[in-house]
Amino acid sequence: MKHFLSVSDLSKQEIEKILNWATQIEQQWDHCRSLNNKCIATFFAEPSTRTRFSFERAMHWLGGRVITAADASTSSSLTKGESLKDTFRTLEQYADAIVMRHNDENWPEIARKYANIPVINAGSGSGEHPTQALLDLHTIKQLRPTLDNAKIMFCGDLTKGRTVHSLLELLQMYAPEKNIEIYLCPAKIDHKNKSHSLSLPEKYENICNFEIIHLNKVNDILPEIDIFYMTRIQKERQCCDGIIDFFRLNKDNIGKVKPNAAILHPLPRNEEISEDIDDDPRAAYHERQVRNGLYIRVALLDHLLYRGIK
Ligand code: NCD
Repeated sequence: MKHFLSVSDLSKQEIEKILNWATQIEQQWDHCRSLNNKCIATFFAEPSTRTRFSFERAMHWLGGRVITAADASTSSSLTKGESLKDTFRTLEQYADAIVMRHNDENWPEIARKYANIPVINAGSGSGEHPTQALLDLHTIKQLRPTLDNAKIMFCGDLTKGRTVHSLLELLQMYAPEKNIEIYLCPAKIDHKNKSHSLSLPEKYENICNFEIIHLNKVNDILPEIDIFYMTRIQKERQCCDGIIDFFRLNKDNIGKVKPNAAILHPLPRNEEISEDIDDDPRAAYHERQVRNGLYIRVALLDHLLYRGIK
């Protein structure tokens, strides 16, 4: 039994195996039936489009079944005061694995302690989103296979954007050996010497074993960036006063981006990337990243529930 609650639950070797398997699935999109006697419970107590649909479609692709709650935050017994511990105890009587999203950043610890079947973290508050990190890494490696000397920039809500936290943790497995440079915007301190409300929390910086460059201006460095990872402001998690004139990628500055760079975004997108650059060949967010989410989740479910236990 193996959970995937945090990026560190998988070794680099396992990650490479999952990424390779995802590539094979894409090349041969032909249904496999490895999970035909298995069932997952998708328990989403926060909104989702891509993560949830791709997990459910992935399970169907593997020949398995899905049980679910329309909106676990309002329709499950959590609303009657049931604990997450009791929720895990219940779901494990019906399913072979649980895919969960919940706004409590610490729910994975409860799962690790009490769940007796594999639990996959599909988003833990403003903490982590490890399956998104896998699909982001997969996308980055497809677009820049060697990763050598890559300059990767994260821009947007680095405080509450959980996809950034998990991808940084995953990149640390590659960064020193590949000489990857990571840039973050906004920096911890803004130009008025005030701490910035969107910057990366210390605890995520501390897990990185490589140097991080903090910036408050994107335009000067834009022509050097290979992978530009943009995120939305998590309006539902924090007050947005004072962050109105934040950097936006649009047709006025897209010309500064390297011709062979890639623009990634976990989606949903708000105003930080203008729709008028969606058809730019460098924009990887709508098709490649979204589709990779499906292949990666097929490969992960297969790894956790079938291949990995052989
Ligand atoms: C992200 C999430 O839920 O953290 N979306 C996703 O799963 N693709 C990003 C976000 O909500 O901003």
